[in-house]
Amino acid sequence: MSKDKRWGVSMTDDLFANRVRSEVPSRLNGMFPQMDFPDAIKFTAGSPAEDLFPRKEMAQAFADAVATEGNYTFQYHTVTGPQSLREKLAKRATEKMQIENIDADNVMLTAGGQQGIDLVAKMLLNRGDSMVVEAPTYVGALSSFDMYEPKYYAVQLQSDGMDLDQLETTLKAHPEIKFLYTVSDFHNPGGVTLSVEKRQRLVELANRYNFIILEDSPYRDLRYVGKSLPTIKHFDTEGRVIFLSSFSKILMPTLRTGWLVASKRIVKQLLKLKEAADLEVPNLTASAINQYLEKNDLDAHIDQLNKEYAKRQWAMAKGIRNYLPKEVKATCPDGGFFTWVTVPDYIDTTELLYDHATPEEHIAYVPSKNFYAYKECTNGMRLNFTGLTPVQIDEGMERLGRVLKEAIARNQSSISVEN
Ligand SMILES: Cc1ncc(COP(=O)(O)O)c(C=O)c1O
Repeated sequence: MSKDKRWGVSMTDDLFANRVRSEVPSRLNGMFPQMDFPDAIKFTAGSPAEDLFPRKEMAQAFADAVATEGNYTFQYHTVTGPQSLREKLAKRATEKMQIENIDADNVMLTAGGQQGIDLVAKMLLNRGDSMVVEAPTYVGALSSFDMYEPKYYAVQLQSDGMDLDQLETTLKAHPEIKFLYTVSDFHNPGGVTLSVEKRQRLVELANRYNFIILEDSPYRDLRYVGKSLPTIKHFDTEGRVIFLSSFSKILMPTLRTGWLVASKRIVKQLLKLKEAADLEVPNLTASAINQYLEKNDLDAHIDQLNKEYAKRQWAMAKGIRNYLPKEVKATCPDGGFFTWVTVPDYIDTTELLYDHATPEEHIAYVPSKNFYAYKECTNGMRLNFTGLTPVQIDEGMERLGRVLKEAIARNQSSISVEN
């Protein structure tokens, strides 16, 4: 036995802060089983399709960044990142997100959307502070919020976004709530989009009950049906909404570059936190993105993605209709990466995954409990459709249909045995 290891527990564990000593394991590890079967079909990851990355253009953009700035590319710069990139993003925010009256100093670059979530939580939450999340919500956001040990109030997601009546009741009962996190477009994991009416009412509630909204919208540009809605930030009258986006889903996750739009007062606080966390965005990456935007048509690239992803989303909708039993409900997203499936409540989707879906049919999905602040929902699953071809989706959905029909049949036969 090594000197500081007894009974499998390292003595240094006593020295860890509560946020890592907590009994709750990492939310992001072990969400689903790893599968090596040659015929495996994985509906699990939230990854963009690799064959659609603009690889040549991005390689050129990195070369151009170095050629333009020379050794200065590799130097320390400032926490704010390149002004000209932020100017482009402010313009994009006005044109595409209808966020008016902003300039480059309302825009902040972050290490992926994930760091934006983390810094906003760090800015707002003392231990035990109250916040609202959707049920279900993005698991990466929960993993970040957990570190600040908040008290969660979970508000149900409906087909047009968060249930605002439930939210208002919650706000009346808990006026101390200071922070609300929402994924407004093509929800991860729910697949739904917040309606325009609800966007407006949400801002009214924020003004009345005094809280800050983080509008996390990395999938916004990936719309396959219908027209974009104005952002929640568009309706912001008091500088309470922080709009967060990312290049991960529309360019590449490896850029680890997100960006947010907020009031200058808020940006000032967030820059202080970013400086403390990692000093600045990597200048090489920020300059390369700037070069990419100067020399390429980002929206033409997004149109290409949308054409391809629409086929995959369509294959998923067809698979749901053709193969899933009638006892099952599924969302039909107008964009984004995910469909949410709700199964009868006697089926635990974690058990089903490990006992049947993976070993018998070689398929995997992410079970619902991962997406709930208190892991309270066990009869749902998230299916990703962007990482698979339409043929794989069709095959995978046929297999999922079999798994679910068998689970329903098992329940019916156990009821008739009991009777
Ligand atoms: C809703 C949502 N927010 C934020 C992120 C973080 O993305 P990134 O840090 O790659 O920008 C993701 C990634 O899946 C996401 O789905």
